[in-house]
Amino acid sequence: MHSVSNDDVKLISAYGGDLVNLVASEEERPSLMEAANQYPMFQISDRNLCDLELLATGGFSPLDRFMGQADYQRVLTEMRLSDGTLFPIPLTLTINKEDLPTRGEWITLCDSRNYRIAIMRLEEVFRWDPIREARLVLGTVDPRHPLVSEMERWGDLCISGELRVLSPPKYYDFVELRRTPAEVRGCLAKMGHERVVAFQTRNPMHRVHEALTKRAVERVGGSLLIHPAVGLTKPGDVDHYTRVRVYKALVDNYYEGYSVALSLLPLAMRMAGPREALWHAIIRRNYGATHFVVGRDHAGPGNDSAGRPFYGPYEAQQMMDQYREELGVEAVVFRELVYLEEEDDYIAREEAPADAKALYISGTQVREEYLDRGTPLPSWFTRPETANILTEAHPPRNKQGICLWFTGLSGSGKSTIASAVVPMLLEYGRQATVLDGDVVRTHLSKGLGFSKEDRDTNILRIGFVAGEIARHRGTVICAAISPYRSTRNEARKMVGGEHFIEIFVDTPLEVCEQRDVKGLYARARRGEIKGFTGIDDPYEAPLNPEIRVNTVDRTPEENARLIVEYLSERGFLNTV
Ligand code: ADX
Repeated sequence: MHSVSNDDVKLISAYGGDLVNLVASEEERPSLMEAANQYPMFQISDRNLCDLELLATGGFSPLDRFMGQADYQRVLTEMRLSDGTLFPIPLTLTINKEDLPTRGEWITLCDSRNYRIAIMRLEEVFRWDPIREARLVLGTVDPRHPLVSEMERWGDLCISGELRVLSPPKYYDFVELRRTPAEVRGCLAKMGHERVVAFQTRNPMHRVHEALTKRAVERVGGSLLIHPAVGLTKPGDVDHYTRVRVYKALVDNYYEGYSVALSLLPLAMRMAGPREALWHAIIRRNYGATHFVVGRDHAGPGNDSAGRPFYGPYEAQQMMDQYREELGVEAVVFRELVYLEEEDDYIAREEAPADAKALYISGTQVREEYLDRGTPLPSWFTRPETANILTEAHPPRNKQGICLWFTGLSGSGKSTIASAVVPMLLEYGRQATVLDGDVVRTHLSKGLGFSKEDRDTNILRIGFVAGEIARHRGTVICAAISPYRSTRNEARKMVGGEHFIEIFVDTPLEVCEQRDVKGLYARARRGEIKGFTGIDDPYEAPLNPEIRVNTVDRTPEENARLIVEYLSERGFLNTV
């Protein structure tokens, strides 16, 4: 293991240990690359990749590998590595039994594009139990918790061993803001203050965050390290490109007189509330901070299935307090801040007079009540630069992409209704692309048959194209039988839930067969076509489609108008 000694990097924090550094030097790299080519390859997830990067650069010091069994078990129950060091979050690399290499003691870890990132000696393989981990670390097994649902898809075995990193993940965005712990320490040392307060965030910074950070520095005295997590955060969060544009604009315009460093942290968050707050603090200590901001509901994942918050709003602060002696970094705590109109300032909610008007807008409200509707964000809430960046990144509903996904039996009327919808949408200024099942099979899916596998491939191809169109704010109309529920759900995920409108053309089989516009039912009944949906292959009707249309009592035009009305009510169409 290579490490950066305290002589190399001035240590500002109370932490006396050396920073782990697993990255191969220029001289070592060619021979390690050569070796990596001989070892079995193993593709790791984006989460593992973030973890690996922080292991490699010392963000998780003193940890220098994915956890072995002794570390793992003690972290679950006591929040300590096997040698007693405080470490609250398990860091594992999981693999499926069948993917476990049978030969050799080393493996090559590569990213999703098959770039070789590291080599690892297979020293330990052990079983783990996701339910136990969720219960102990997250305090819940509720699938609403974003990590609980993700953990189900991890491998069944954990692997651990010595790591050598060939090349850390390469970034092309905000390159100047991506610094290793050693680089951040160097930067902070140049700024010249003994004390450094770090601020973690996964959200755009609004005026409340500005108030928090400024007050924190004023309390502590020294420099401010704005250190947003840009690895994985909570699904549905504002993307980091947009967030970082906001942070840069704020630092450039609103922190005059403060000593501020902005640096990006490739952290894959767990949304583990109190345990995560401790972990965040330890990581920032490694980056050279002496103090760390913990406000209300730090790293909280929102509400559980029963509508109750997963963690208490100040549990994270209590946890920080409990371990303050050995953390090596001090918490700077805040009660919930709200905007007090009379004072034109942010104050702790409980300090606001009972009859005063205390204002607050949540992240969901920002999206649904302001950005989606094109309503400007108020100036008490956010700076104009932030409002502009968010508005640009998240246009109002009528400028967002939509995917109308028609599903139903062959001959149910999908294409007919779709052809009526297109000109109606053009009338509103929306350009539409139609991906009709039969037409798609003549180009994009040429050669595919009607086996379950081929049908799924066809639908996933349509889903992929639809996702791209919607992402670029276009309108796409897909009209394919799409008989299987789980495949339609995959398509929904590819497009993004809020842009995906499933329209169930609910025409009974007898009616479709009687109409038999393409003569296919007659052929299927004669046994000339095999695996025909509704005859000898299943159709799984949607359980909760956004729209259900009845083609027996209504004309295609009437149905098309109902769909347009739905879009209009949801704000997807121009009103003028
Ligand atoms: S987090 O998941 O990274 O914790 P967020 O980016 O919203 O989420 O919060 C960053 C930090 O600011 C956390 O320490 C959080 O507790 C604090 N914070 C955010 N909003 C408020 C608020 N209104 N009052 C007090 N603290 C807050």
